[in-house]
Order: sequence, then C-alpha cells, then structure tokens
Amino acid sequence: MANFETVEVSTDLLIVGGGMSACGAAVEAAYWAKKHGLKVVLVDKAAMDRSGAVAMGLSAINQYIGQAAGDNTVEDYVRYVRQDLMGITREDLVYSIARHVDSTVHLFEKWGLPIWKDENGKYVHEGRWQIMINGESYKIVVAEAAKNALKTLGDDCIYERVFIVEPLVDGDKIVGAVGFSTRENKFYVFKAKAVLVGMGGAVHVFRPRSTGEGLGRSWYPPFNTGSSAYFTIRAGAEMTCQEVRFIPVRFKDAYGPVGAWFLLFKSIATNAFGEDYMVTHPDVLAEFAPYGLTKPIPANLRNHLGLIDERAGKGPIYMQTADAIRRLADAYPDEKQRKKKLKELEAEAWEDFLDMTISQALLWAATNIYPEEKPSEIAACEPYFIGSHSGASGAWVSGPADLAPAEYFWGYGNMATVKGLFCAGDASGASSHKFSSGSFTEGRIAAKEAIRFIVENNVEPKVDMGKVEELKAAILKPLDTFEQYKGMTTDPNVNPNYIRPMQFMFRLQKIMDEYAGGVSKSFTTNKHLLERGMELLTMLKEDSAKLAAENLHELMRCWENVHRMWQAEAHIRSVMFREETRWPGYYIRADFPKMDEENWKCFVNCKWDPNTGQWDVFKRPIISIVD
Ligand code: FAD
Ligand code: ADX
Repeated sequence: MANFETVEVSTDLLIVGGGMSACGAAVEAAYWAKKHGLKVVLVDKAAMDRSGAVAMGLSAINQYIGQAAGDNTVEDYVRYVRQDLMGITREDLVYSIARHVDSTVHLFEKWGLPIWKDENGKYVHEGRWQIMINGESYKIVVAEAAKNALKTLGDDCIYERVFIVEPLVDGDKIVGAVGFSTRENKFYVFKAKAVLVGMGGAVHVFRPRSTGEGLGRSWYPPFNTGSSAYFTIRAGAEMTCQEVRFIPVRFKDAYGPVGAWFLLFKSIATNAFGEDYMVTHPDVLAEFAPYGLTKPIPANLRNHLGLIDERAGKGPIYMQTADAIRRLADAYPDEKQRKKKLKELEAEAWEDFLDMTISQALLWAATNIYPEEKPSEIAACEPYFIGSHSGASGAWVSGPADLAPAEYFWGYGNMATVKGLFCAGDASGASSHKFSSGSFTEGRIAAKEAIRFIVENNVEPKVDMGKVEELKAAILKPLDTFEQYKGMTTDPNVNPNYIRPMQFMFRLQKIMDEYAGGVSKSFTTNKHLLERGMELLTMLKEDSAKLAAENLHELMRCWENVHRMWQAEAHIRSVMFREETRWPGYYIRADFPKMDEENWKCFVNCKWDPNTGQWDVFKRPIISIVD
C-alpha cells in the first residue's frame, strides 16, 4: 500500500461509468457545462470505445418511437412498458425518456451509425419499437462523440481503466468517489459537487449455466458487476425493484439474441413435440390477468410458458428457424426471387449474431447448424440485474418537474434520494425498456439536471481526508493480505488465511443459485430458502474482509465481487418482502404462487442506512399518469 500514490481530482460534475448512459451524460453535460464554465470528469473501469453492455456491438436499437412520422405515441410506449412489467413501472420516468429518445437515435445516425433503411428511406423495423442497425461498431461511434464533447472542456476530463469502488458522502450529500487504477499503483480521490452514476447492472451474481470449457460465458457481458447498485446503496440512496431481475431466453449455450427471430423473422418456438407453448397454456395466462390476457404477452410470462413445458419433460425448446425462413421465402412465388430472398435471410440470420454475439455464430458453425435447415435450441438464461432492459432494479430517482406526481418529485429529475447523486441507465430503477438508445437519452436528461443542480447549489465538496485514508487502506488491503500469507501453502489458491476472488464468486453464485431461485432450482424459491440464503450470505460478507489479490487485476476482481454481493443482498431482501409471484418467468415464490394485485401492486423499495448498517424494506405506491 505504501507504494500507492494518491491522486486527487477536483471537478464540478463526476460521471462514473463510460457506457451508453454515461456517454449520453457526457455529450449533454459538456454542452451545459461550457455555458456555465464548469468542469466535467468521466471515469470508466475500461476503455470507453468498447466498454459496457454494448462492447461487442448490437444488431438493433430497441427503443425508437417514430413520433415525427406518427408511427407511435409516447403514451403508447408507456403502456407497452407497464404491460411488460406486469403493471410495476414509474410511468413518469418512462415517459420522460420516450419523449426524447428519437432525437438520440437521429444523433447516432448523424455520428455515423448505419441504420437499415427500406426502399423508401424509412428505418427497417425489427418489431414495433425496434429498428435494425449494422451495429458492430455501435459503441465506438457513441464513445467517440462523448469523448469529442468532453475534449471541448479540456484535456483532463477522461479517466479510463480506473475502477470506482466507493462513494464519498458528506451528511445527506454526495461529494465524490474513490477508486484505483487497474494498470498503475494509483489510488484516485475524485471530489465533485454532483455525481452521475452510469456503471451498468450486474452479471455473475447467480451461477451461470456455462461450466467447464464455457465457464463464465453469459448473456450479459462480464464487465458490469453491480457497481451502480453498490455505489448508490452505500451512499444511502433508496433503491427500487431490487426483486425484478431479468432472465432472457436465448439460443442455448452461446446466448445469442432471439429478438430478430421472434420479431423480424416472425419465428415461433416450440417444445420438442412441436407444440407452440405460447398457445397451449391459455389457463396460465388467465391466472395473470390482465397482463396475461393483453398483447404483447410480457417477457416473463413468455419465459414462464416455455419453462412449464421444460419442467414437464417436454424439452428441448426450439426456435423453429427453418420454418420461419421458409415461410418468408415462400412469399416470393418466382423461383429466382425466392432463392435470392433465401440467401438474404440466411445472411441476416448470421449477421444478427456477428453484430452482437459472435460466439453464437461460432457455436452454430462448430455444431453444424444451418438455420435454414433445422431448428436451434433456446433456453432461459441465469438471472441478471439490468434495469434498462426487461428487468427494473435500480435507484429510486425523482421524476421530471412537468410530469412527476408530488410523491415522485424532489427537485431535480433523475436525482436519487441523496443530494447531488444522479442515476441513469441500469443505475436508475423502475423505468425498464430504455435499452441502448433510452439509456443514452436518460444520461442526457440526468446530466442536464445535474448541471442545473450544481449551478443552483454551487458549494465546494467537503471531503473528509481522514476517512479517505481509511478507505484507501481498506480498498488496497487484499493486496497486503495476499503478500502476507501467500507463502503459507504450496498452492496459493488454497489458504486458510484468505479467499481469492474467483472462489468468493463461486460461493456467492452457489448461494444465489440454490437459495434465491437460480437455474438449478428452476427459478423457484420460498421464505425458508431465502432466509437460509441470507444466513450464508452474511457469512460470505464476513469473509469478504479476507479477500486476497495477487495483482491489480485481482484487486478489481475482489471489489467486483463485493459489489455483486451487495446487489445479491438487496435482491434477497426484496424477494423475501414481496409475498406474491408477479413475474413467474423470472422467479416463483413457491409459498406465494399467485399474483396478488390487491396487496402487491406497488413498488418494493429498500434502503441501507450508512450510519446504522440497518436495512429497511418497504412499499411505495404506483401512480399512473397514462390511461
Ligand atoms: P453500460 O452501457 O453497460 O455501461 C456501464 C459502464 O460502466 C461501462 O462503461 C463499464 O465499463 C462501467 N463500469 C462498470 N463498473 C464500473 C466501476 N466500478 N468503475 C468505473 N466504471 C465502471 N439495447 C438495444 O438497444 N439493442 C439491443 O440489441 C440490445 N442488446 C443487448 C444485448 C445484451 C447482451 C445486453 C446486456 C444488453 C443489450 N441492450 C440492447 C441493452 C443496452 O446494452 C443497455 O440498456 C445499455 O448498455 C445500458 O446502459 P448503461 O450505461 O446503464 O450500462
Ligand atoms: S436484445 O437485448 O438481445 O436485443 P432480444 O433479442 O431478446 O434482446 O429482444 C429485442 C427486443 O425484442 C426487446 O425489445 C424485446 O423485448 C423484444 N422481444 C423479443 N422477443 C419478443 C417476443 N417474442 N415478443 C415480443 N417482443 C419480443
């Protein structure tokens, strides 16, 4: 620890994270900061060009309203999100993003992102809200714009490969963050008048399906490890929807996307006996009325129907790719045209993977899959925390002044319940289906409000440097622990004095999988399992003081796992509190297997008190703003 330099950086606005929401925040903040002569600093644990969930690229922009063309209204989008989340959504937040998202997409296009166009120059839609892109370089295009915007404020605005660990708080106000370089022996202290959190969601909290040679493969890229949740919880912010994990259905083992198949190619999925599970369970859908009886059927109910068949021994579940391609090609009676269309469809099918999940294309090639000839297995993934997609976990933030009911408004849009702490993308909760475009848009909204907050509350941050020294010692401790004890066993992985981050992660994943309804329990849990899980998690928490790191990379791994562990705790506590089953394809409370609209049509929020270390879990009302 002695050879770690402490680097102090002072700024007005600090943006933590460098993904879609942080890039949106950077572009917007740079504009407003310039007007007011303010400084903005962005910190990413990785390199912005390829960081976050969009690192590998995407094949579609999943939120586009098409307002100008009159395709849809903002209200339509709010209804869609409310329906998909079984009624549990902050309509003011969804509305706020939806009304601005088209302008974001137009910026992306202006910056060079290729969006598919039809012969009339209109965007090609995958589904009602989704438009197709050639998105291999999506993140590079967006990051370039963010970097260019920040460069207009100075040369010292971007810190890459710096891992943010902990918030700095002064009373009820955020005053900065601390972290360390993943490449040099440097400990960073960022002092700021406001902090905008955009550090994504969390993966590898639950044990993944992949084992052995595929170990670690997951749908959600491995870089996001619960840092947004940890940062906001530890700052004392109220959190929401921590029970609303997301389980996507994906092509099995390489986790390739299904959206293009279901929506663009209009494919169906069946069980191994050829039955379409979406039509064979009307009774189950009726149990979850009104949501089960309204189109589109929510993502979790679609999962649930497939899982019912799987549990009944009717697997594998198949995406009927060959039928879908044949149907689309057969629409061309002319044989030459039909063949041309067939080739086009084959190319699109492969490109969908090559744009965003290259390993699925590799797996298809390696296992002799020709999608035009035979169907392909799909399966429900392990659970993830991604409030910007079809989950909802994140911080409880203020809505916009012109839309939010009084209960949802405290002065600045997208500000958490801690003063000066702003959240966007996966970091803000209860406003799902923002995806890449909506997350960028929310970053813009939050940044504009953060700059307004700074202008109206322009006081120097008071940082307690004694506390910072304590944090520095605690954060770097795993390096010392490893050095101290590494020689005491012949195998450095097995040591009674410490635990390495990989083993720590395995233990966390086992607890979550077996007690909180992971894959091996077919996403089913109950009060007793959760209580036992909490007991084991408490012991894991104790052992986190014994984490050991051989180098800087492992030090990052240690803190990633601590972040995951806190996300896990918020999840277990919230699942335990909500005594019903509302999202059965995400998890089932076997002791409360039914949905209970009367008692549980509400948000479940929670808060950890930094002064007492106590958790509080409680209800918040749903206030609808759209009919
Ligand atoms: P991210 O974009 O993931 O950014 C998080 C950032 O935080 C990264 O820069 C990361 O490096 C940084 N970070 C994390 N921890 C730390 C830390 N401790 N310190 C510093 N920095 C940190 N959307 C679509 O529109 N279309 C699609 O086709 C689509 N497909 C998807 C496929 C997958 C597999 C996934 C996971 C998501 C997909 N999405 C899609 C959704 C979209 O990617 C997300 O909604 C969006 O990226 C969320 O933005 P964000 O800023 O919250 O997080
Ligand atoms: S992605 O994030 O990897 O692109 P995915 O491919 O599942 O996700 O879906 C893309 C979009 O299509 C999302 O908006 C999702 O909600 C929607 N979608 C996927 N499958 C269906 C379906 N069967 N019915 C309705 N919407 C769907």
